[in-house]
Amino acid sequence: MRGVRDDVLEAVSALRRGGLVGLPTETVYGLGADASNELAVRRIFAVKGRPSRHPLIVHVACADDARRLAAAWPDEAGVLARAFWPGPLTLVVTRASAVSDAVTGGQDTVGLRVPDHPLALELLSTFGGGVAAPSANRFGRVSPTTAQHVRDELGADVDVVLDGGPCRVGVESTIVDLSRGAPRVLRPGGVPREALEAALGAPVPVVTTATDVRAPGLLASHYAPRAGLSLVSAEALAGEAGRRLRDGATVAALVPAASPTPAGVVRFEVAGDDAAYARALYATLREVDARGLDVVLAVPPPATGVGLAVVDRLRRASAPRAPPDDEGHGAR
Ligand code: TXA
Ligand code: MG
Repeated sequence: MRGVRDDVLEAVSALRRGGLVGLPTETVYGLGADASNELAVRRIFAVKGRPSRHPLIVHVACADDARRLAAAWPDEAGVLARAFWPGPLTLVVTRASAVSDAVTGGQDTVGLRVPDHPLALELLSTFGGGVAAPSANRFGRVSPTTAQHVRDELGADVDVVLDGGPCRVGVESTIVDLSRGAPRVLRPGGVPREALEAALGAPVPVVTTATDVRAPGLLASHYAPRAGLSLVSAEALAGEAGRRLRDGATVAALVPAASPTPAGVVRFEVAGDDAAYARALYATLREVDARGLDVVLAVPPPATGVGLAVVDRLRRASAPRAPPDDEGHGAR
């Protein structure tokens, strides 16, 4: 096709063959497959090691394509799609019958998103259909924010990795459930809750426990590096670091620019605001692991704006890590 980049065309033909594509988005890289091809979708679960009943987000090129995959399109969906798409927002709505159980994990709802990345949009509009894509990491681990992370983590299990550069947002999309009445946030992410509330003109609660939704992003231990992670206040950092160092651990600290770090600690500084923290978060946790450090002490940003998503991911990364059961609960 004229005007479409060669690497995008290669990715489109991989999707058409039932292959898996490393998909750059503004949030994190996705592991994409043709949402209408059940075998291809099942391969995603196999490669990720993800329990098959956990639903996937379907990525589309525009809001009209999203509507076609929904059985109902509430007023709030229209408002939020106009305000934030393309962008880091996933809308959970009742699914159209054409959306397969492989994608939704057998649920009657589907998560839909128009990502804000030029290569993703070119891929989606050239492909013409929905692309089911979870984050391109093994289940429970840190999401990839560069093409190299995807290659490092998934290797030959992914057919084509489209390189769209480092992700601009750095944490996953905000998931808003519109399928059960008043909108609620299932996962804080790139669109701040405050911005949702401003667009809707109403408070939007954040769901904190996963009772009636099967969302691995809501499991306690998730998004975890190999290093043990603890949240500490700026004031407590020196004392906690000293204790860990005396125990013989190698210690990293993830801190806002203003916070000093004690001697003997490997310092990872976030220069800037909550958005800068989000952008740096996953790459830093990968770097901590690459250097083989035992412990990372994170001084969190304020839990406002995108900072709420950062605090959420840090909490999950610091949760106790139980061995996985059949459902994958507690899996790393
Ligand atoms: O930013 C993102 O959302 C990235 C990029 C690639 O788009 N994707 C992503 O996908 O984070 P994943 O699979 O790692 O996380 C999606 C979350 C999961 O917790 C899943 O359970 C939840 O969305 N989800 C998907 N469909 C859902 C549905 N119908 N109802 C409730 N939760 C749903
Ligand atoms: Mg994920």
